[in-house]
Amino acid sequence: MPKPATLSGIQPTGKLHIGNYLGALKNFVELQDSGKHRCFFAVVDLHSLTEDFTAGEKRQQILELTADFLAAGLDPERSVIFQQSQVPAHAELTWIFLTGTPMGELERMTQYKDKASRQQNNLNAGLLTYPVLQAADILLYSPPVVPVGEDQAQHIELARTIARKFNKNFGPTFVEPKILLTQAPRIMSLKDSSKKMSKSQPEGCLFLDDEPKVVMDKLKRAVTDSGTTVFYDPENKPAISNLLRIWAGLTGESLDNAEERFAGKTYAQFKGELGETVAGHFAAYRTKKTALMKKPGTLKRVLKEGSEKAATVAQKKLLEVKKKMGILI
Ligand code: TRP
Repeated sequence: MPKPATLSGIQPTGKLHIGNYLGALKNFVELQDSGKHRCFFAVVDLHSLTEDFTAGEKRQQILELTADFLAAGLDPERSVIFQQSQVPAHAELTWIFLTGTPMGELERMTQYKDKASRQQNNLNAGLLTYPVLQAADILLYSPPVVPVGEDQAQHIELARTIARKFNKNFGPTFVEPKILLTQAPRIMSLKDSSKKMSKSQPEGCLFLDDEPKVVMDKLKRAVTDSGTTVFYDPENKPAISNLLRIWAGLTGESLDNAEERFAGKTYAQFKGELGETVAGHFAAYRTKKTALMKKPGTLKRVLKEGSEKAATVAQKKLLEVKKKMGILI
């Protein structure tokens, strides 16, 4: 029996921060290393077109995310690393799915409502149809499980609905994917522990690329809570609890162990040690990424070869879909 597939994607929109890493990339590497799946990891560039960009930026963002994938430990020998737009079946299947998706289902998506309210100056139709493209990404590869964070649950549910409906109308074609909720700690901004860490507020982010002294400096300036002792209490100590989650997420330790480790330390001592942990954790990543960014040819080749592999799988599924629907005659 071939191993079951699994698939996930990240939008190329700029530098990754530690929230992106703990929520997605770290789990991708673990899934790959478990050896239990045929892994597909996509640079979902078509999704990213729904936000403002220039051609120069986009080119750079695609190369950078590919370097991020590789530097963090994804291996093109063991995972199919590909560029969504280079596998035409994604866009084609999206159109097919769009015609079977009621507007109302898309209009009630929370991520759409969120983005639409933040992007008044660029209210493009892609924001609305975004989850249908995501359903195509997934269903083309028949993964029984899709590793994503909680914020994507609604999109996976839509993919399941689309699969079910198609199967009912045209006969068994798609696997209904289950969400594999990654153990993603909720990482908040260093500047405001009531807001998620987000690159729209770079001062509150720890980027994977940040040099040790930048990490130290950002942590030094990170907000703390009243009191002086370090313990986990998300209600009353949201800022310190956020920093403890970062430490636990990177080291793989429990929050209990994190508390124990820093009991009796001052805020400043805790931040110093956390800074060393963060800087140390990404030291090899930074070196590898810097080297990779000097070799755009290598990065392009990885994407090209991965996209060819992905296209073989996706194209086969698309042909099956077209036959079942009666448009391939
Ligand atoms: N929408 C996802 C996000 O913002 C990215 C994504 C696109 C994705 N296609 C996917 C995730 C397919 C999983 C599977 O995080």
